[in-house]
Amino acid sequence: MTRNAPSKKLSGAEVAMHNSKDSCWVIVHGKAYDVTEFLPEHPGGQKIILKYAGKDATEEFDPIHPPDTLEKYLDGSKHLGEVDMSTVEREEKATDPEEGERQKMIQSKPDLEQCFNLTDFEAVARRVMKKTAWAYYSSGADDEITMRENHAAFHRIWFRPRILRNVEHIDLSTTMIGTPVSIPFYVTATALGKLGHPEGEVVLTRAAHTHQVVQMIPTLASCSFDEIVDARQGDQVQWLQLYVNKNRAITKKIVQHAEARGCKGLFITVDAPQLGRREKDMRSKFSDVGSSVQNSSGDNVDRSQGAARAISSFIDPALSWDDIPWFRSITKMPILLKGVQRKEDVLKAIEAEVDGVVLSNHGGRQLDTAPSGIEVLAEVMPELRARGLYPRPPGAPRFEIFIDGGVRRATDIIKAICLGATGVGIGRPFLYAMSAYGEAGVGRAMQLLKDEMEMGMRLIGARSIAELNPELVDTRGLAAGHTSIPRDMLSENVYDSLRQPLWKSKL
Ligand code: HEM
Ligand SMILES: Cc1cc2nc3c(=O)[nH]c(=O)nc-3n(C[C@H](O)[C@H](O)[C@H](O)COP(=O)(O)O)c2cc1C
Repeated sequence: MTRNAPSKKLSGAEVAMHNSKDSCWVIVHGKAYDVTEFLPEHPGGQKIILKYAGKDATEEFDPIHPPDTLEKYLDGSKHLGEVDMSTVEREEKATDPEEGERQKMIQSKPDLEQCFNLTDFEAVARRVMKKTAWAYYSSGADDEITMRENHAAFHRIWFRPRILRNVEHIDLSTTMIGTPVSIPFYVTATALGKLGHPEGEVVLTRAAHTHQVVQMIPTLASCSFDEIVDARQGDQVQWLQLYVNKNRAITKKIVQHAEARGCKGLFITVDAPQLGRREKDMRSKFSDVGSSVQNSSGDNVDRSQGAARAISSFIDPALSWDDIPWFRSITKMPILLKGVQRKEDVLKAIEAEVDGVVLSNHGGRQLDTAPSGIEVLAEVMPELRARGLYPRPPGAPRFEIFIDGGVRRATDIIKAICLGATGVGIGRPFLYAMSAYGEAGVGRAMQLLKDEMEMGMRLIGARSIAELNPELVDTRGLAAGHTSIPRDMLSENVYDSLRQPLWKSKL
């Protein structure tokens, strides 16, 4: 049944009658939609929609669908009109024991002032986030070796501090691809911001403005690109992270729109021709939609791959070095490759005349046992110096090197800058701070990094970013591989171990 331009609002009871696969209506943002015919085509599978048949699906729908999804994919005749939300029965959340437990955790979460470092936000987020959201943010690929190594690798680099250097005044400011910043880190691109916070990525935009930090906007944001740009204030700078679409016309449109809206850098993700298998995410997803034994809906879509698999099916695995000139031809924004993982590819990137690279393994979410960004940096920089490619010779085109992955302390940032990075990207910590405490949390996380960095610079005897150099760090531990180091209890205690499959309850 469909109704066009209804004169009066639908009641909750009317919608609730359409609660099966034979007639399935759902409410999203106060409007009802008839998805009966759409069910078998739904890229997220039928089961998830059927769970909300006859009900309000907004909370589940919002974080994982861009705002224009309904207009784009659901025929206008299936848009049934407004619902009188005062007549819609509220689901009693506390009936789900896990949700009840989570609500209790939210009530008793530590005051924001009790978070003294970035790992503290992770510890709180782990308890207060929805299970599926936590699984999506915290997961890494396969055995999560790379994800953990990203953080651990920093501990194999030690400082060689200088003393008696008159460190009264410390200046953390620098520039990143031409943009002045207050401190050399940026908020890197992380998809699906609304999983962690109902307002999504704009929360990060606001905090980044307050702290004069650059934000990289993800292709797969929950907010629309324009919403995130509209949230920008003053001369705040944003970059675009790009997943390249098989349909290059779409990619061209995205890139040129971003440039027209003032984005100052294009970061093409090159480490994700296929999304990694993130098992925590897959497991949480699986239990959320019910086991296959309960699958009576005839749903043939494999939904076991976890959040983001379906929404990323457009990414082009055929992307190659040959495409770089085309990107140059469609934009004047600086172009950087995000996800470079070996020295040889850095050299190729210089040859290809891109503006830089991010040494990154996608936060350990792609190829497990790929090396950490900081380790690749330590390998690359001596080679570039030996070849006279760094520092850049006079007249040579710009080439800046960033790293991301596992940065949790300002000492990690300092180590990267000492080795030759222009700046570092930080992903999960800001997501966790946002999920647990909103904008104030992200702001505090940024301030903590600034405080830590000022102290760290003083204690190693460097007054400005320009004074950080390789002579201040000892990287022999990297060459020695996995030497024994004191265990990092903060991070180990919060680390959420991979789990085995759940046993069926006894019959
Ligand atoms: C009402 C009309 C709906 C439309 C038009 C729609 C459309 C879509 C589209 C296009 C995708 C793939 C995204 C992409 O490839 O860019 C998707 C994925 C998905 N949708 Fe929907 N959807 C609808 C309703 C819902 C509802 C009500 C729910 C849940 C309550 C839901 C849950 C999901 C999930 C879980 C995914 C897969 C992403 C993942 O694996 O986590 N959808 N949907
Ligand atoms: C939840 C999540 C989503 C991400 N989404 C994207 C994405 O859409 N595109 C991308 O290029 N990188 C993405 N990344 C990778 C980050 O940009 C970055 O490489 C990584 O998070 C850095 O590691 P860190 O989280 O340890 O700081 C994502 C990372 C996380 C944790």
